[in-house]
Amino acid sequence: MTFEAKHLLGIEYLKPEEIRTVLELADQYVDLNRRTQKHSEALIGLTQINMFFENSTRTQASFELAGKRLGADVMNMSMQASSIKKGESLIDTALTLNAMHPDILVVRHPQSGAVNLLAEKVNCAVLNAGDGRHEHPTQALLDALTIQRAKGRLHRLSVAICGDIAHSRVARSNILLLGKMENRVRLIGPPTLMPAGIADFGVEVFDDMRAGLEGVDVVMMLRLQRERMDGGFIPSEREYYHRFGLDAEKLARAKADAIVMHPGPMNRGVEIDGTLADDINRSVIQEQVEMGVAVRMAAMDLLARNLRTSKQEGIYV
Ligand code: NCD
Repeated sequence: MTFEAKHLLGIEYLKPEEIRTVLELADQYVDLNRRTQKHSEALIGLTQINMFFENSTRTQASFELAGKRLGADVMNMSMQASSIKKGESLIDTALTLNAMHPDILVVRHPQSGAVNLLAEKVNCAVLNAGDGRHEHPTQALLDALTIQRAKGRLHRLSVAICGDIAHSRVARSNILLLGKMENRVRLIGPPTLMPAGIADFGVEVFDDMRAGLEGVDVVMMLRLQRERMDGGFIPSEREYYHRFGLDAEKLARAKADAIVMHPGPMNRGVEIDGTLADDINRSVIQEQVEMGVAVRMAAMDLLARNLRTSKQEGIYV
């Protein structure tokens, strides 16, 4: 087992062996989560604080359940009601919480880089639950586990990531992870939703969805992130669906056994056909949610092991 990281801030900082370690342990947690008795003691006595400065349904619920199943004391800070509203800075809030001796901080923030900054100011393990358009490492790890379980491997696959790439931290983390594990990544979307210079990441870029989907093993759909758009990036939702919405006809270009993924929340009829999203023969969207809890358990377990070792060695205190 190799996992040396002190924080989980992004896929960028993980080695392929560390990714494999998380996935291996997560696989074991999938089995635990399917039992009636779901408790383990990996985080017993530890305090986990979830700080979500942006709305979240599945990620927050998933981190909360993961912590509780491992025996941690879990607190959800309501950031809408916090002192941030009274003008306190992110760093002051973090320092205040830090003084209460948490062991694990799970942070989501609308600004790219905010979670890295915060990690420098506290002496506990920090997990990035999504920062702006930067990274969403646990999402990429849960996607990787879903792919590995569906395809039997996580290398030499052809994966298409489709839609609003420019605003997506999910896309960024997935591009990095899939690249590190030696897969081929294709990005499909209108040029207005493609980040400049993206081809330098070793990906192939398509604005014709049918051509982009030709022969792929995995189709990963993304939501149009309207909250991060400040202008007209697409002509209309109808036109967008026509060109970039995934339906059975476009999916027919992919391999016959290609799987369909979506991180949620989904806009049915905008980026994906609702019937296809519910088709259990093609869509693994519910599996992604299931893998999410297991991956977060594995990530927090591994960080807690490193935290204990470094506290013993006096690194954190
Ligand atoms: C994603 C996110 O927040 O980045 N969702 C998630 O974590 N399940 C993607 C999105 O919001 O579209």
